[in-house]
Amino acid sequence: MVDQSSDKIDLFCSDLPTRFQPNIGKILVTGASGYIGGRLVPELLARGYKVRVMVRAIYSGYDALWPNTEVAVADAQDINGLKMALDGIDTAYYLIHSLRLGPKKFESADIKAARNFRTAAEEMRIKRIIYLGGLGDIRSPLSSHLRNRAEVAEELQRGKVPVTILRAAIIVGSGSASYEIIQHLVRKLRIILIPRWGKNRCQPIAIRDVIKYLVGTLETPETIGKAFDIGGSGILTYETMLKTLGEVLQKKIIFMSVPFSGIKLCAYGTSLLTPVPASITECLMEGLRSEVVCQDDTIKSLVPFQPLSYKEAIVRAMSREDQDRVYTRWSDAYPSAHELALKLHELKEGPAYITSYSLTTRKSAPSLFNSICKIGGRKGWFHSNWMWRLRGGIDRLLLGVGSARGRRSRSNIKVNDVIDFWRIEDLQDNKKLLLRAEMKLPGRAWLEFNIIEEGDKRRLNTTAYYDTHSLLGKTYWYMCLPFHHFIFQNLIKEIERRS
Ligand SMILES: NC(=O)c1ccc[n+]([C@@H]2O[C@H](COP(=O)([O-])OP(=O)(O)OC[C@H]3O[C@@H](n4cnc5c(N)ncnc54)[C@H](OP(=O)(O)O)[C@@H]3O)[C@@H](O)[C@H]2O)c1
Repeated sequence: MVDQSSDKIDLFCSDLPTRFQPNIGKILVTGASGYIGGRLVPELLARGYKVRVMVRAIYSGYDALWPNTEVAVADAQDINGLKMALDGIDTAYYLIHSLRLGPKKFESADIKAARNFRTAAEEMRIKRIIYLGGLGDIRSPLSSHLRNRAEVAEELQRGKVPVTILRAAIIVGSGSASYEIIQHLVRKLRIILIPRWGKNRCQPIAIRDVIKYLVGTLETPETIGKAFDIGGSGILTYETMLKTLGEVLQKKIIFMSVPFSGIKLCAYGTSLLTPVPASITECLMEGLRSEVVCQDDTIKSLVPFQPLSYKEAIVRAMSREDQDRVYTRWSDAYPSAHELALKLHELKEGPAYITSYSLTTRKSAPSLFNSICKIGGRKGWFHSNWMWRLRGGIDRLLLGVGSARGRRSRSNIKVNDVIDFWRIEDLQDNKKLLLRAEMKLPGRAWLEFNIIEEGDKRRLNTTAYYDTHSLLGKTYWYMCLPFHHFIFQNLIKEIERRS
C-alpha cells in the first residue's frame, strides 16, 4: 500500500511527434513537489533525460518516487540555494508558484522567486528556461492571480537566459484543483447558481496535453525564447463546463443565472462544498472574471498533436480516479503556513504533550500496516467518524483545510500525501506512519502509528504529540484529552479488527 512504483504511471508523451534530444544536458525541474512538476519528472526520465529536481524539503520517499534523479534542496527566496540547484544545469523548468500563501501574500513571494531565479540562472549560465504560466491578455483587466503569472513571465524574461513561456487556462486532470472544484459542485448540488462571470469563455486544457507541450517545447529548438498560448480543442463558458460534467455524470441539475458576482462569497461557499480551501478557490475564481482563450496557435505547428476536448479530459480524469491512479494532486505542495512543515524530529525540544494508546495482537505486521494505511478519505476513520467530520467542518468554517481534502488514492500512500487534515511526514513499511496536522490549531500536532514486534505478538501503538507554548494551546490540549482517549482507543481497536 506504500506507493513506491513509477511503473504504474501512464506516460503522456509516448505519441509526441518530437524526439529525445541527446544534446540537451541535465534538466532542472523546479516545483517538482507540485501538481505539474510531479507529472513532468517521470516523462522526462522515461525519455532518457538526466533530471535534477528542486524541492524545498527532502523526504525519505523521494528516492522511490524519482529513481535515478538528483534532488536539490533550495528555496527560491534564497538566491544562494538556487545557484547550487542550477549548477551544471542545461535547461530549467520554472514551475514555482506560491498560490497556497493565499491572496496578496503569494504575489510578492512569486515575483521575488522569479527575480532570484532569473539572476541565478544567468550567473550559472543556464541555456534555457521553460515556464508554464497563466493564460490571459495582459492588456485587459486581469485578476491578481493571472496578472501575477504574467508578471513572473516578464521578470524571467528580463535576464539574458532565453525563456520559453507556455500560457494555459484551466488545467483539467485527475487531482487538479479546478477539476475537483467542478466535480464536487456537480456531484453535490441539484441547483447551481451561475454568477455573471459564469458566461465568460475559457479554453481548458487536459493535464496530459500540458505535459506534452512542456516536453515538446524542450525538444523543439524553434520554441526557445518565445511565448505560446496552449489550450484544449474547445472554447466553453464556465456554465457549459459544469453542464458538460453534469451530462457525463447523467445528473439533472438546474442552472440559475444570478445577477451578482461576489467572488469572496462564492469562493467561501464553494470551498465548503469542495476539498479546495477558500484561499485557492478565491484566486481561481477571480480569474474567471476575464476571458481566458488562446490568442494565437503557433504552438500547434511546432509541437503538432491533437489536444483533447474538455469532455475527453474530464472522462480521462474520472477514469483515473475510478482506477485509483491519481499520480499528483493540487494538495501535494506545502500548506500555506510553512512553519507547519517543521518535522517532529526537527523540534528543538520534543513536544511537551504526548498521549499514547496501544494493544497487542497476533495479527501480522503487514496486515496491520495495510489497515493503518487505509484511514481517512471516503472510508473515514473507522470509528466515531462524525467527530472527525465535525473537527474538519469547524476547520473549514475557520478557513482551514478541513477534512474534505480526503486522499490522493484509496489504496496507496506516499510521504507528503494528504489524508484529510493531515499530511504524511514519515512512512516506514510495516512499521510506522507519522501524520502532521494541517488544520487550524493553537500549536503543532502529530499523530503516529507504530507496529512493534514483541515475540510472536505485535504491539499496535498510536501516539498523539502536541507542541504549544500558549495558554490557548494548553487549554485546547486538555479540552481534547477526553476525546482523544475515546477516539484513539477505538481507532486502534478498529485498525486491528479490520486487518
Ligand atoms: N494547476 C493548474 O491548474 C495550472 C493552470 C494554469 C497554469 N498553471 C501554472 O503551472 C505552474 C505550476 O503550477 P502547479 O499547479 O504545479 O502548482 P503547485 O501544485 O501549487 O506547485 C507549486 C510548486 O512551487 C513550489 N514552490 C513554491 N514556492 C517555492 C519556493 N519559494 N521555492 C521553491 N519552490 C517553491 C512548491 O513547492 P513546495 O511543495 O515546497 O511548496 C510546489 O512544488 C504555475 O506557474 C501555474 O501558474 C497551473
